[in-house]
Amino acid sequence: MSDDLQRARSAGNSHLGLLPHRLARDTPCVLAVFGGAGDLSHKKLLPALYNLSLEGDLPQRFAIVGFSMEKLDDEAYRQFARDGVERNSRRPVTADAWNKFAPSLHFVSGTFSEAGDYQKLKQRIAEHDRTLGTGGNHIFYFAVPPQFIDSCSAGLTAAGMISPPDSDKPFTRVVVEKPIGRDLASAAEINSQLARHFDESQIFRIDHYLGKETVENLMVLRFANAIFEPVWGARFIDHVQITVAEQEGVGSRAAYYEHAGALRDMVQSHILQVLCMIAMEPPRSIHPEAVRDAKLDVIRSLRPFEAADVERLVVRGQYDEGLVGGEKVRAYRAEERIAPDSTVETFVALKCYVENWRWAGVPFYLRTGKRMAKRASEVAIYFKQVPRVLYNARPGSPLAPNVLSIRIQPDEGLSLNIVSKQPGAALKLSPVKVDFHYSSATPEAYETLLRDIIVGDQTLFMRRDTVEAAWNFIQNILDAWAVSSSDPHPYAAGSWGPTEAAVMIAKDGRAWRTL
Ligand code: BG6
Repeated sequence: MSDDLQRARSAGNSHLGLLPHRLARDTPCVLAVFGGAGDLSHKKLLPALYNLSLEGDLPQRFAIVGFSMEKLDDEAYRQFARDGVERNSRRPVTADAWNKFAPSLHFVSGTFSEAGDYQKLKQRIAEHDRTLGTGGNHIFYFAVPPQFIDSCSAGLTAAGMISPPDSDKPFTRVVVEKPIGRDLASAAEINSQLARHFDESQIFRIDHYLGKETVENLMVLRFANAIFEPVWGARFIDHVQITVAEQEGVGSRAAYYEHAGALRDMVQSHILQVLCMIAMEPPRSIHPEAVRDAKLDVIRSLRPFEAADVERLVVRGQYDEGLVGGEKVRAYRAEERIAPDSTVETFVALKCYVENWRWAGVPFYLRTGKRMAKRASEVAIYFKQVPRVLYNARPGSPLAPNVLSIRIQPDEGLSLNIVSKQPGAALKLSPVKVDFHYSSATPEAYETLLRDIIVGDQTLFMRRDTVEAAWNFIQNILDAWAVSSSDPHPYAAGSWGPTEAAVMIAKDGRAWRTL
């Protein structure tokens, strides 16, 4: 952990990875973005950096160096960045803010395999170290497909650009994006490649869901409020539902998605991470490793699927044509560059258990899909019924259970359904909703994550063991599907997925929440 971070934590300043702004400002460094002129940079990274700059939340001595094959000079790169920011920033571009941000942008054109190109990059970074006084602190952000991770790391090593971690010396950090592999073996391979060049304390594996304000708030909600902990577990909770529904289809990512599918793309990463936040034990401290240990325990406690369970407990679907937001959209198999007989799933619903003392017997129902009825991600905690006496004694019409729903996006916030008496003489009960909405000013996940990378806080990043434990859990499903003769169940685009998903939960006498 960096000295700054240590100081902030011991001063009690830290809150779950969100360190005080002055720390990012006071951490001079150079951020080199491999794939700097690519899609992720255009859509997410550069807009996030611009917004951090607007907040005064970037280091005062700071340079961004885009590194990729495109033949751009600094000026052209600034144009590229401006276009990305104008299209994708949550806040508009103003002349003043842009003029402050743009000079930090630079570009080195090169390939990830040429030793000479790494030398060019090294020289540019060294120039910034000299002129800005960035102190030799370097962050290498691999915004590239996973097959390049090894050559990028090797190129940096060969050029002598990676320093071992040492709190008295300048830092080297590396940032990698998902997907980390497409199964347990390939994830372990990527992690081993990284480990040949970097210490685990230098590696920041991004799962952008962890940077979402509402996901981060799950821990605060649980551990900064006295009312939740006593009821948080099998004694009071009937079941938990986690939904991540998207309206978009596969879009322009056919090449990736055909090798991924919803289970790998969403469940292995984002949804399991959200599940960890809901199910974890209180960590022993807010030290990043303590938080990450507590999350790992959850993944390791997931009951493994037996091959025979998969058919019963995991439903996969693929969208057919249909109407989304009033517009007719194509079936997955009719999308560009998708095989007409593709069996890749665009929807998954599954039931799993966290087998520990707290959660024994409480089902967790997870579902995610593309081309669903609406964009909505939420966690719903269903509390147990009150006893069938007093107001709940009428046979055939049980009271609605209390449900705490935490909306991850959109309309970030949370609500609690409770039962209340309708005003008037007659005793009529009805559900009412206690509702809290976040203000609209929540930062984008990449802003939070980039700031944490700069200050060196790994709390919101996935550790190697966690990534591999998550793949280990998913692997049994992948293996069962690999030998299964059945295809994903079709569902109409714009619906809530195949009927089989509704049947799966209905068998337990429950229903998916209407969002
Ligand atoms: C990405 C997946 O990790 O998350 C995409 O690869 C998905 O398929 C995206 O669309 C969803 O992110 P968000 O922030 O829009 O919910």
